[in-house]
Amino acid sequence: MTAQTPSSLSSTAWEERYQAGTPRWDLGHPAPAFKTLLESANAPQPGAAIALGAGRGHDAVFFAQHGFAVTAVDFAPSAIQALEEQAQAQNLPLRSLQQDIFDLLPGYAEQFDYAIEHTCFCAIDPVLRPAYVELVAGLLVPGGELLAVFFTHQRSGGPPFGTTAAEVRQLFEPYFEILTLEPVTNSIPSRQGEEHFGRLRRR
Ligand SMILES: C[S@@+](CC[C@H](N)C(=O)[O-])C[C@H]1O[C@@H](n2cnc3c(N)ncnc32)[C@H](O)[C@@H]1O
Repeated sequence: MTAQTPSSLSSTAWEERYQAGTPRWDLGHPAPAFKTLLESANAPQPGAAIALGAGRGHDAVFFAQHGFAVTAVDFAPSAIQALEEQAQAQNLPLRSLQQDIFDLLPGYAEQFDYAIEHTCFCAIDPVLRPAYVELVAGLLVPGGELLAVFFTHQRSGGPPFGTTAAEVRQLFEPYFEILTLEPVTNSIPSRQGEEHFGRLRRR
């Protein structure tokens, strides 16, 4: 975060949204695109993965269930508590970090084979998108992959701040080879036509 980051995007604001109950972004289950990925013939081999802006941890826990060594990061205490409870209830090893994702470097440089993105990119101030790209590139080992569900809606304002496949390509291509960037076909009804799944390999 920067000194100019709007207060509505602060950790305090996100924590208040969690404490207000039923956060509207929370699916209550993993993103369908991740289910498709991990159940496909092209599923990535398990490795060390970091889930950014992990929220209550549905995606993080899902990857842990599939054998990934997951580190889940969020700066909202209620989100961290919920994801820890979910992992403990299933007796899954999962490391949680309550901190700002933009403070992960240099401490976690090149520590991960995968980064998991689902509605974190759309939750940060859009001016921080280039910094987010550099962050993900810095967290991954060379050849590591970003596994992402991007919210490609066209509504003004946010969060969630929408993006486009063209913007994703333009921002990530300097650091990543785009292996896949396709519309999601099995989104939940309220996100139909508004998601792209990306699999991007760090150069
Ligand atoms: C829209 S929610 C998505 C949560 C989760 N990925 C999901 O799909 O349910 C965005 C999450 O990112 C977290 N977040 C936003 N900016 C962050 C930052 N700079 N550092 C750490 N967490 C952040 C918020 O606390 C919130 O849990």
